[in-house]
Amino acid sequence: MKKLTAILLILVMMFSLAACAPKAEEEATGTDLPSIGVTIYKFDDNFMSFVRRAIENAAADKATLELNDSQNSQATQNDQVDTMISKGVKALAINLVDPQAASTIIEKAKAADLPVIFFNKEPDAAAMASYDKAWYVGTTSSESGVIQGQVIVDAWKANPAWDRNGDGVMSYVLLKGEPGHPDAEARTKYSVETVVAAGIQVQELELQTGMWDSVKGKELMDAWIAKHGDAIEMVICNNDGMALGAIQSLNAAGYFEGDKFMPVVGVDAIPDALEQIKEGKMVGTVLNDAKNQGGATFDLALNVALGKDPLEGTSWTLDETKAVRVPYVAVTIDNIAFAEEAYK
Ligand code: BGC
Repeated sequence: MKKLTAILLILVMMFSLAACAPKAEEEATGTDLPSIGVTIYKFDDNFMSFVRRAIENAAADKATLELNDSQNSQATQNDQVDTMISKGVKALAINLVDPQAASTIIEKAKAADLPVIFFNKEPDAAAMASYDKAWYVGTTSSESGVIQGQVIVDAWKANPAWDRNGDGVMSYVLLKGEPGHPDAEARTKYSVETVVAAGIQVQELELQTGMWDSVKGKELMDAWIAKHGDAIEMVICNNDGMALGAIQSLNAAGYFEGDKFMPVVGVDAIPDALEQIKEGKMVGTVLNDAKNQGGATFDLALNVALGKDPLEGTSWTLDETKAVRVPYVAVTIDNIAFAEEAYK
């Protein structure tokens, strides 16, 4: 009798638990909208905050986002992906911390039969080819280097006085983004190669990573000004965040007053950099279209979350590596209004 009562009690408990537990999908969304799991490598990144905003705006009434700040830790991101999968998201949109970690995420997505859209940090071709439900949204990294190089060439040729010592050589310092990041590697290589290909002789005074970060950019520039002073004739930055840091440092060293000038170029065209261009403290930048990259990431993620073709109802196109590549555009004072529009 005692045993029977115990069994009955257990059965009652099991039923009531089952009745309380929402289905995985409902738990994730709380609504009928599909739930999409998103990670940003770190919220504290100038450019990525604009991509994030574009994703959030696009999602508005179409999907529920499980949005995660991976705080620059791949281990944290891996855990976040596990959690999102167990909550029942229908698709993943992943801004990797470590561009080499795509295969780890793909293994998890594959095991749960979930589609995954990588964005901003491009996985290598082998990882992308290993899963038919993986796509990428970003840019053609080399293009930003070539365009930045052209901005430098045009400005250098138009301003012979920038060759301060008149030796016919452009002596530059270069603030690099995160080593191993396809954008950082390509921008570093192609910006300088484009300048050289235009017949300008160059000398590299310094090249170090500022990890895409303003504060690190300022610290490096402080040290380089102390070491080289006016021997620096060009400041090439893999992104605007670091360019802004370099400009702070140059301001403090008395540049941009009277005829003391230093040319600085960046990439991204974030609003703060556009302000510096207007103030004449930055020569130019390259639009890295956050709005369209965020928009495309969401459009593809929503489609695959609903079991549709990733491009259905969109105007995006995929290349042979399953990537949507949003074009870069040169930005100088001449087309600043266009760049301002792009970030609204
Ligand atoms: C941007 C950088 C950003 C990085 C993050 C690049 O495309 O130009 O500003 O820090 O992506 O991965």
